[in-house]
Amino acid sequence: MSNHRKQTVLVTGAAGYIGSHTSLELLNQGYSVVAIDNLANGKVEALRRVEKITGKEVPFFNADLRDADTLKAIFEQHPIDAVIHFAGYKAVGESVEKPLLYYSNNVSASVTLMEAMEEHQAGNIVFSSSCTVYGKPDSVPVRETDELAPTNPYGRSKLMVERILEDSFQAIPSLSVSILRYFNPIGAHPSGRIGEDPTGIPNNLLPYVARVAAGQLDKLQVFGNDYNTHDGTGVRDYIHVVDLAKAHIAALEELWNNTSLLETYNLGTGQGYSVLDVVKTFEEVSGKEVPFEFADRRPGDVDKTFADPSKANKKLNWYAKKDLNEMCKDMWNWQIKNPDGYN
Ligand code: NAD
Ligand code: UFG
Repeated sequence: MSNHRKQTVLVTGAAGYIGSHTSLELLNQGYSVVAIDNLANGKVEALRRVEKITGKEVPFFNADLRDADTLKAIFEQHPIDAVIHFAGYKAVGESVEKPLLYYSNNVSASVTLMEAMEEHQAGNIVFSSSCTVYGKPDSVPVRETDELAPTNPYGRSKLMVERILEDSFQAIPSLSVSILRYFNPIGAHPSGRIGEDPTGIPNNLLPYVARVAAGQLDKLQVFGNDYNTHDGTGVRDYIHVVDLAKAHIAALEELWNNTSLLETYNLGTGQGYSVLDVVKTFEEVSGKEVPFEFADRRPGDVDKTFADPSKANKKLNWYAKKDLNEMCKDMWNWQIKNPDGYN
């Protein structure tokens, strides 16, 4: 493995939440990072802080992935050995309103990226997929071989890219692919210098809870208390973003240590927690109250999903190590150090 330490990785969406945390881990482990992001949802400041924390420079291209000329320039200027592909949109509700935006930004952009990779013989790609490709799971824990039945355009865009990668893998001998299906990434780097900085009012549970605890929002609405779960509220598999970032490096190393590989992995802890479990833990670690009220179910939500991560445990020798306590603690640390996010 150590002979791969000096490889150069193109990180798409590097100024975003998971991209910035993964770039930091890559740099800490001796890889070079080249970043592309159009700042649709990412912040340059995230990358600047990654540079400060690591003491390393990250060449940054402020460009859209659909811009083939910029991609060509990146591959010509930098010896890219692998790509980690985070760039995309991720809001389920918005994808229902604007499906073409999602198919363009998530699917077309991935095709443009793959074309540039093929042209420049860059053979390894790690792709950000999502547990949303399973739709409403028939049973939990969810295994990689379970049925794929996404219920919204966002999920379908992720599944389409998975299919495009599989077809490309069959046709392009130099290509190796790692498809990572994330469950619910939360938390922040323990330094509190980088974290999730959603624009506007957060859709997701943890950023919302953190702002309620900080007094920036009045109270949490808990969407549904009549689900078939231990306390009636929705159950998810929350995973610390630093654990998730490390999984990308394990996946890259697997690609480098093998030729011609296509693997798909669930990335989660394997533990499900309810909304009320999360609220309670957040209150404990922050010492703040998180007022909440029960509200109607959110359309499209599933009652319960969590991963069977045993394939990633076994084949990548990767384990999610940080528990819900640590996830909430690091989330709170980021919140109090950056009450206005990166602004
Ligand atoms: P994010 O929005 O913080 O990061 C995505 C980054 O991609 C942003 O910085 C954005 O500016 C950039 N981007 C978007 N479209 C682009 C384009 N056309 N060209 C260049 N840059 C572009 O999101 P994240 O939470 O870091 O998610 C990263 C990836 O992981 C996404 O593909 C997302 O679908 C996937 N994912 C996220 C979650 C989650 O809950 N956060 C769960 C499963 C999968
Ligand atoms: N929830 C609330 N109140 C809120 C926000 C969320 O009660 O204000 C509940 C939801 O109903 C759900 C749980 O908290 O039970 C988690 O909700 P999130 O929005 O944080 O996460 P989801 O599991 O709904 O969605 C996430 C990503 C999606 C992705 C999906 C599957 O946001 O992009 O995981 O990967 F599609």
